[in-house]
Amino acid sequence: MDKGEVMPSTTNHWSLLYPQADQRHHAAALTQAMQRVSDSGSYILGTEVAAFETEFAAFLGINHATGVANGTDAIELMLRALEIGAGSKVAVPSFAPSAVAAGVARSGAEPVFADIEPGTFTLCPEALDDLLRSPRGHGVKAALVVHLYGHPADWENLQRVADAHGIELLEDCAQAHGALWHGRMVGTLGRAAAFSFYPTKNLAAMGDAGAVATNDAELAERVRVIRQYGWKERYVSDHAGVNSRLDELQAAVLRVKLGALNESILQRRRLAAEYDARLVGSRVVTAPAVRGGCEHAYHQYVVRSERRDALMQHLQRAGIPVAALYPVPLHRQRAFGGNNEIMLESDRAAAAVLSLPMHPYLPEEAVGDVLEVLEKFEHEGS
Ligand SMILES: Cc1ncc(COP(=O)(O)O)c(C=O)c1O
Repeated sequence: MDKGEVMPSTTNHWSLLYPQADQRHHAAALTQAMQRVSDSGSYILGTEVAAFETEFAAFLGINHATGVANGTDAIELMLRALEIGAGSKVAVPSFAPSAVAAGVARSGAEPVFADIEPGTFTLCPEALDDLLRSPRGHGVKAALVVHLYGHPADWENLQRVADAHGIELLEDCAQAHGALWHGRMVGTLGRAAAFSFYPTKNLAAMGDAGAVATNDAELAERVRVIRQYGWKERYVSDHAGVNSRLDELQAAVLRVKLGALNESILQRRRLAAEYDARLVGSRVVTAPAVRGGCEHAYHQYVVRSERRDALMQHLQRAGIPVAALYPVPLHRQRAFGGNNEIMLESDRAAAAVLSLPMHPYLPEEAVGDVLEVLEKFEHEGS
């Protein structure tokens, strides 16, 4: 489940939420890894970080992964390294977590919004094209494509639009580690990609952590310079830079979990298939769509329901941890200019989405229980 979610538990299935279950599953290896760091005498940007960067890049099939302090910083540093900042705009989907727009704003660039596709909740290529042709789109230098919930966006058509307008196409993979677009890992599709390893993510640290992935060696080097005071060499700054370093403990934790990532995503897919099969024909919810050629990473298993609020209450009353992610679309957030622009699909999604329990340690009976409670709602019409 996502940030801040603590629900009452009425059955054993719900007494252990994902982040904790993940630590328990890896407890012995994590203890060993943390002891290794403790003994090493090196705690920030040392050998664990370097090894994680190499191993994560290999997992993705990309040349460079650069560890940073969190996913919001990864967005900021990726943009700063591309020299996209004050005076520029960055197009982002209007249905996404605030962190996406916050990361853009931290670079100095202005986030501007385009609507999503209803089926996959990802940036709509036609909406991006409309934005780029409109006065609001003047000054857009890049589009930051979010593979929301773990579903790859419509990359081919987004790339066509970006090429036609001469803008960069960047990825936000904070929710999509291990998702595939036509056999290619997300994070390797655009000029660069931002990752988060927040403890609820598919690849989860035990604190904050993030990375920027790219095949562009110069871009990777610029991220490395910016993440530590603009140092090219120790104590010598060409640019002001920031402190967005990854620490050794988080890197050591991530190395342990990275070894199990493929299997954990397969398990998420198995559970999703279980949900999908039982939700066929449901009159209350629509199961998440998967675009042809894509493999979902199921960071979230998100159904859509016209009766979302009543259904959410019904599930919560049964002690089932569910959440509406995200209740306020970005174009309506006061922090980002909160306006009355019509982003029809984003507004509709915000009112209809519901994340059902999903993580690799969830027993299949738990999925069965959720479906039973859901079916009861459907039959009782409550
Ligand atoms: C899509 C998306 N982008 C960016 C972020 C920011 O990551 P972090 O919380 O590590 O700063 C998150 C996570 O919260 C996210 O879900």
